[in-house]
Amino acid sequence: MKRNKNMRRISVGWLEIGPEERKNVLEVLDSGRITEGAKTYEFEKKWADFIGAKYCVATSSGTAALITVLTALKYLYKLENRPKIITSPLTYISVIHAIVLAGFEPVFVDIDPFTFGISPEAVERHLIKAKDKNKYSIILPVDLMGFSVQIDKIKSIAKKYNLIVLDDASEAHGSVYRGKKCGAAADAGVFSFYIAHNIQAGEMGAIVTNHYDIYRLSKKIKTNGRLCECRICTRSKGICPYLKYHDGKADDFDPRFLHDLIGYNFKTMEFQAAIALAQLGKINDIISKRQRIVKYLNEKLSKYSGILQLPDYSSCVSYLAYPLVIRKPRVICRKALRMELEKRGVETRPLFGCVPLQQPAYSHLKKIYKGKLPNAEFVGENGFYIGAHQYLKTEDLEYIVRAFEEIMERKNG
Ligand SMILES: Cc1ncc(COP(=O)(O)O)c(C=O)c1O
Repeated sequence: MKRNKNMRRISVGWLEIGPEERKNVLEVLDSGRITEGAKTYEFEKKWADFIGAKYCVATSSGTAALITVLTALKYLYKLENRPKIITSPLTYISVIHAIVLAGFEPVFVDIDPFTFGISPEAVERHLIKAKDKNKYSIILPVDLMGFSVQIDKIKSIAKKYNLIVLDDASEAHGSVYRGKKCGAAADAGVFSFYIAHNIQAGEMGAIVTNHYDIYRLSKKIKTNGRLCECRICTRSKGICPYLKYHDGKADDFDPRFLHDLIGYNFKTMEFQAAIALAQLGKINDIISKRQRIVKYLNEKLSKYSGILQLPDYSSCVSYLAYPLVIRKPRVICRKALRMELEKRGVETRPLFGCVPLQQPAYSHLKKIYKGKLPNAEFVGENGFYIGAHQYLKTEDLEYIVRAFEEIMERKNG
């Protein structure tokens, strides 16, 4: 794809290191501690407050957060014989990898074509028909591109079938559904702070929950299953709850180096937390700038809405990007449109693909799901996104609109 080097570049994501990020990172360097410590704990506290959950556990990535909390749920609720997790076929692949790596089995139901998340109706239809209902343990919806799933309906289905709800809000930092932020309404929520997300830290993730047991277990699992993070526990009036593991040598007791579970090292670094904290201070501004961009592009591109499905606008959505779905691939196909945009310096990304039908790693599932996920298959083939980040300027937005006009006019002419 040839592109003039001097041409304007509209990236899918961007990060400008401002004075707040710089100050926080320098504080880490000066502190002498670069692995997780004060900044990480401060971020955990502030993220839990922002989302409206009691607890937060930071991890090294969103994928790590998923593996950690799934493993915690498995231990806590003894899910070995209930391996099935109902989830979205249209998502970033690591969600499905995490399910498999934590020893579960993904079961896909179709999505809503406009908000890209699993529809409660599809979940319920699936469960009604399932002959092995006792094999299901979790519903794991994904709030793709910032759009919340109908979490209240999903929760009531979960209650009916005795299932846990784990909401992947990696792409929905601060999106609100019926008064609650994504991630807060479920039994646990997961976030990724990968680049281009609304809060970006390079590589970092988090788990939020209101359940103390899920929080404690997740914290243990991300630290190789260690008993506790402190040397002498200050909780329980100075009596360490783990002294039961002690053989009487009180001076020698160090719960940081006693492990009663098999876990991972998914701890984060202070640098990531420092950058994320700086951005969290600007989150409301980030969300509203992205909303303004989506509104502007929707207005300007509405003349193409017969060919392109534009994203629904809502002031409750914290947009990850500007997603588009080609309604009439015969008029213009995704490959051609993406190529023309890229040629003009407008970066694009596919909307991940329908995992069981379009991702080679799961080709063994193709036969099972052929023809069963029409919405996810269509969006997986015809959906893509461009940037809608807070660093885009008015001239960038005008440029994007001109690029679409040029491409569409040329196609018609
Ligand atoms: C929906 C979703 N879940 C999970 C992840 C994984 O997060 P990470 O890349 O931080 O491991 C991502 C990454 O962007 C994502 O979009």
